[in-house]
Amino acid sequence: MKLFIDTANTEEIRKAFDLGVIAGVTTNPSLIAKEGRDFFETVKEIVSIVGNLPISAEVISLESKEMVEQGRKLAALGDSIVVKLPMTEEGLKATKIFTAEGIKTNVTLIFSSPQALLAARAGATYVSPFIGRLDDINQVGINLIKEISTIFKVHNISSEIIAASVRHSSHFIDAALYGSHIATVPYKVIQAMTKHPLTDAGIERFLADWEGAKQNQF
Ligand code: E4P
Repeated sequence: MKLFIDTANTEEIRKAFDLGVIAGVTTNPSLIAKEGRDFFETVKEIVSIVGNLPISAEVISLESKEMVEQGRKLAALGDSIVVKLPMTEEGLKATKIFTAEGIKTNVTLIFSSPQALLAARAGATYVSPFIGRLDDINQVGINLIKEISTIFKVHNISSEIIAASVRHSSHFIDAALYGSHIATVPYKVIQAMTKHPLTDAGIERFLADWEGAKQNQF
């Protein structure tokens, strides 16, 4: 399973990119708004950081004609731009048009398997089921990943599943176990996943032993 970073904060993107672990970036209107910066300038800076890794940038219209106009402007920012579209009838119409134009799409706000299958059939490059938001309403978000992953395998569907709304490392590992192609993860979760108390204790003990041996080759 590949890892994308889920943020519009360019410092976080830079840090995660330098770790060598990310294969793409996802943003959404809330994440862009949180940064308080110009949308297009932000996306351009992300392109300059991650180069040709896929970057999902979301349209804000609810009407397909306007979605296509907005998406084309975003796609013009670089070949790595993936136009993110909401899972609605209008979003599907726009997905079909972008697919015909060879522009990559990420159909977002997916909360059921039928939605994922429809998005895939419209040509979505990626589908984004939201795990955490399902958990928030007392459903088991990861079950959606299991279902979609099974359906896509059985029917040989090439759209990639991005497990989204990932809140902690268990979401990440479950997404990997149950066949998600990608998980998009906030920077603080990536940071938390680098850590283990035994790693810290191990480093401490190695350094103490080294100190005791009075070695000085470095
Ligand atoms: C990414 O594509 C989604 O927009 C994001 O993961 C949503 O996360 P949230 O439910 O924590 O806002």
